[in-house]
Amino acid sequence: MMLTRRDFLHAGAASLLPLTPASATETLPPTLRQAASKRGLAYGAAVSVDALASDQNYAALLKEQAGILVAEGVTKRKSIQPTPTRYDFSGTDQILAFAQANGQLMRGHTLAWHQGNPDWLLPVLENNPDERILTDYITKVVTRYRGKFHSWDVVNEVVDPGAGRADGMRGDSPWFKAFGERYIDLAFHSAREADPDVPLFLNELDAEVDIYWSEAVRSVSLALVDRLIARKVPITGFGIQGHLKAFKFHYSDEVLSRFLDELGARGLKVLITEFDIADIKGPDDQAKRDTEVAALAKRFLDVAFSKPFVQGCLTWGITDRYSWLPTHPMYRWPDGRLPRGLPFDENYRPTPMFQAMLSAYGG
Ligand code: G3I
Repeated sequence: MMLTRRDFLHAGAASLLPLTPASATETLPPTLRQAASKRGLAYGAAVSVDALASDQNYAALLKEQAGILVAEGVTKRKSIQPTPTRYDFSGTDQILAFAQANGQLMRGHTLAWHQGNPDWLLPVLENNPDERILTDYITKVVTRYRGKFHSWDVVNEVVDPGAGRADGMRGDSPWFKAFGERYIDLAFHSAREADPDVPLFLNELDAEVDIYWSEAVRSVSLALVDRLIARKVPITGFGIQGHLKAFKFHYSDEVLSRFLDELGARGLKVLITEFDIADIKGPDDQAKRDTEVAALAKRFLDVAFSKPFVQGCLTWGITDRYSWLPTHPMYRWPDGRLPRGLPFDENYRPTPMFQAMLSAYGG
């Protein structure tokens, strides 16, 4: 049976009220979706298509809270083109149908990445690097969803200051190895030709915190953006993934603000595309840990949302029940407890991070 907000409340979710008011005078607290839309911003979440199909409570939560959906996995090439001749759009179509039924938008993630590729692709790129392997795919996929997507992450994680190149580009990406930096231009141009209107993003990892590595990611990213603009590559926006590590990497409001201003000054839109907060190495006491995670979420989003060119934030998942964090050895707790890095816990109860996000959205 599907849980209503009343059920959440009875389950201890004190901040979520029933879907319908009990009396004419009772007012409902806003959802992230409502608060975001009221402020002209977006809130969204990455979706596990398996959970969407099998867990009604999860589907209800997404419907209630998220204004934009993005597939966590099924819009990657590994899912869409499992063999050279077979295309499978079923997962993406399923999320799009859900979004359309619920008045939500959908983003595409992602067209060219060094990961998430089918096994057959890498030897082909190595042995017979024909650029149509990239461009035909993009044309096909973007054409299919023309006019239906909020935006596309055209390329993902293209810089890597540790890869040994002077320009800081991810030189060991199979796309870079095959075509050099030009693959990025090709990807954006193909996407633009297939859909003249959809916003096109470059989505980047590790650009947001106050550590030496992140500073390198920022300067390499800005230099790249300058080259793309100079070459008239049709880039609309920059996606800051926002995978924060509350107790590992220092965060600074000033550093984030400066980077955002640099992007804005280049005429780019910005989206926080994959927000979550790893809580590993935090206080053992859950309440204390949650409080610090929530405080960080608030600081980060307050800075982001103070910029007029920032369009909103998507979390990478919505409930700790379905999060990638425990699948990663660096972010998983050795004692088996689940990381609490999303606005809803594993039992769909709002976490302090939810309250912090709601407040950042002005709710
Ligand atoms: O679906 C299969 C399942 O059938 C099989 O039993 C299982 C065995 O390992 O694997 C399952 O697939 C996994 C899939 O997630 C679904 O859980 C893949 O191995 C695993 O590689 C895949 O990981 C995803 C990863 O991207 C690679 O595509 C994560 O869920 C997803 O959260 C992560 O997302 C990335 C963004 O795209 C880019 N930014 C970083 C972010 C987090 O790493």
